[in-house]
Formats: sequence, structure tokens, C-alpha cells
Amino acid sequence: MPLTPEIQEKLHIAFRPHAPIDNPDDFQGREVERERVESAIVAPGLHVVIFGERGAGKTSLANVATSKKNPIKVFCEKSFSFTALCRSVLLKFAEKDPNRFIFDAKTQNIRAGGINLDLSASNFSADDFRALLPVGPILIVVDEIDRIQDQDTISRLAELCKNLSTNRPDVKLVLIGVAETADEILRGHTSNVRNFRQIALERMSESELSKIIAHGELVLGLQFDGIVKKRLVEVSDKLPYYVHLIAVSTAEQALKRGSQRVEVADFELGIKIAARDCDAELSSTYEAAIPSVRESEIYRRIVWAVSEGNARVSPTAAITQKVNLIASKENDEPVTTQAVGAALKKLITADRRAILTKEQNGLYRFSNPLMRGYVRLIRETR
Ligand SMILES: Nc1ncnc2c1ncn2[C@@H]1O[C@H](COP(=O)(O)OP(=O)(O)O)[C@@H](O)[C@H]1O
Ligand SMILES: [Mg+2]
Repeated sequence: MPLTPEIQEKLHIAFRPHAPIDNPDDFQGREVERERVESAIVAPGLHVVIFGERGAGKTSLANVATSKKNPIKVFCEKSFSFTALCRSVLLKFAEKDPNRFIFDAKTQNIRAGGINLDLSASNFSADDFRALLPVGPILIVVDEIDRIQDQDTISRLAELCKNLSTNRPDVKLVLIGVAETADEILRGHTSNVRNFRQIALERMSESELSKIIAHGELVLGLQFDGIVKKRLVEVSDKLPYYVHLIAVSTAEQALKRGSQRVEVADFELGIKIAARDCDAELSSTYEAAIPSVRESEIYRRIVWAVSEGNARVSPTAAITQKVNLIASKENDEPVTTQAVGAALKKLITADRRAILTKEQNGLYRFSNPLMRGYVRLIRETR
């Protein structure tokens, strides 16, 4: 039966795969990381950098940890120069406080507290930016820094942090980006600036993922069967994004049946819908890597093999072993390591949308970290 608007609304409060968490009540786990952000943003002169994989929960963590501080938030664009970045921060200030900040779109001039500056000037500096800031504590969250292409923008941003630590210790930045290290985000500038607290956001633990499901159960007054919870957590590849994505469509199936119990059959239907709702880039890369002809079984089996287990990278021998296990389950003949090696070579090329990447040490991994969860999801739908 169709869901009522109220239930629809509740469903999207319970599980929201396509939006970061902004209400602290909906935020699960991450206690240590949250405490580290919260204590850093009140320490004079200390800035924060949050890094981790896409979908790990960086934006959600920043939202929740800064929620009481009324922050200014900006999202970076590929083409951002330092001036463009400052401009978008200042425009956010102008939105919040139009009496203090007066922006003239025509001349690109901004005026605040008796200072008038030209935002189109390419030599707009950290000092200029600082001069325009109002008095009193300020928190600025700069998200998706990894998108910025211009190296100079990043070095000047790091300089700005240093400048603020010295001259305005009550103005703090929280920098967020997809990266494995803080230095990768700041392109080598972390060592110049001592005043950064680095927060690495790893994938979630099973107990944190289970809490997301439990919270959704509470919101919806539903109960997921134990086996469904277990499979959901397994498929999610430890990313909260996948838990929300699968849980929302799975819960929807139960609700449509008019049931308060989420059963395996709901999960099996739900996961098909979840696979369809995934990022289109994931499905098109997967389809291109694995054409659906008989000869290409080896490509599919390799991609499935790489999605198994928890290792981020796999050697050819281990992949071969898993490929042959999958083959034997499908009543097919085993293949040699050489055959797998040859197929792996193709899977790292543009021809196969480079679904895999070969690391310098000869190990293979998915080029897009979200791919592993996607492949697990696809496998479940088979
Ligand atoms: N601590 C958390 N508790 C519950 N859900 C979370 C948590 N962190 C992230 N999520 C969910 O996971 C998904 C990805 O989170 P997001 O903050 O956008 O990640 P990132 O910014 O790292 O890409 C979103 O659906 C978000 O609602
Ligand atoms: Mg984000």
C-alpha cells in the first residue's frame, strides 16, 4: 500500500543517504572525533582539518560538532582562487549580517566596518580578509577542499590559518576534504602550520553502523530482523552512506506491506532499489568494466573478488584464489594466475573505465572507494 506523507517524512528522517546529518539527535557514534573537534574549536589559535573517504561522514561530523557555534559554511569549487574562496566566505557573512557587510555586485566591492575592498582584485590578501572580519569569535567551515585545483589557493589558505592564529586567535577554520592524510588536503603545508588539529575519519565500526539502524527503528517504530541487520552491516562496507541507502529502501518495503517488521524479503527487494539509487557513476563504471558476455565472467569474478574481505588492496595471487572460489560455486572451471593477471591489466585501463588501480607495490584496489560497497550490493541482488 502507498505510504502516507507522514510516514514518507519519517522515513527520510530515519535514513538519509543523500544528505549529511545536521541534527545532533540523528548523529551516531564518532564520540572521540566529535570531542576532538569540539575541544579544538574553543582553543584559541587552533584550526581543524577533517579528512577521510567520501561518504565517511566528514560533513556530518563538522555539522554536529560546530552546531552550537553558529558557523559560516562554504563549499569549495574546482575553480576557486584564494580570492574566490574569501569572496564566498564574505558573501555568507553579508547574508547573515546585511547591515554590517555591504556588497556591490556590480563593482565587486565589499564594505564592512569602514573598510572598502575590491573582491575582483587578484592580489586580495589574508590581511585584507582579516581586516573585514567582525569582532568576536568566528568559526568558518570550508568543505570539499580537495576539489580546489589551484595549488596557490591551498598555500594561501594555509597562510591564512597561520595569520589568524597569530592575529585573530578567536577566528577559527575547520577545513574538510577527501584525503588519506591531512598533508594531502593541504598539499604539503601542514608542517608550516603547527596550529592544526588533524581529525582522521575512518570507516565506521559495526556497533556504530548498528546504532544508525537502531535509531531509524526508533524513529519509524519498526524492527529489523536480526539477520537483516547483519546482512545490511556486512554489505555496507563500513560506510554510513550505504547503511542509510539500503536501510531506507528496505524499511520502505516493510512499511508498504503494512508491517512493522523488516524481513529478509524486504531486504532483498530493498537492495535492488538501493543499487538503482546509487551514484550513476558507480553503475556505469561497473557496467563498462564487465560486459555481460560469457567471455567476460573473469572480469566480473575479479571485481567481485576484490570486493570481498576487508583488505583495501589485494595481490594477484589472492585475487586468483577468490576468483576460483567464485567460479567453483558457479560450477565453472578454475583459471590460472596468468589469466587473472592479464584480465587485471585490462581492468586498470580506460577501456574498462579503470575500475581498478594498481598501486606502486603491485597491489590492486578499487579506483573509487565507494565501488566496493556498490559491488557488494550488486552481488546481493543476484
Ligand atoms: N555519525 C553518523 N551517524 C549517522 N549517519 C551518518 C553519520 N555520519 C555520516 N552519516 C551519513 O552518512 C552519509 C555520508 O555522510 P557525509 O557527512 O555526507 O560524508 P562525507 O562528508 O564524508 O562525504 C550521509 O547519509 C549521512 O547522513
Ligand atoms: Mg561531505
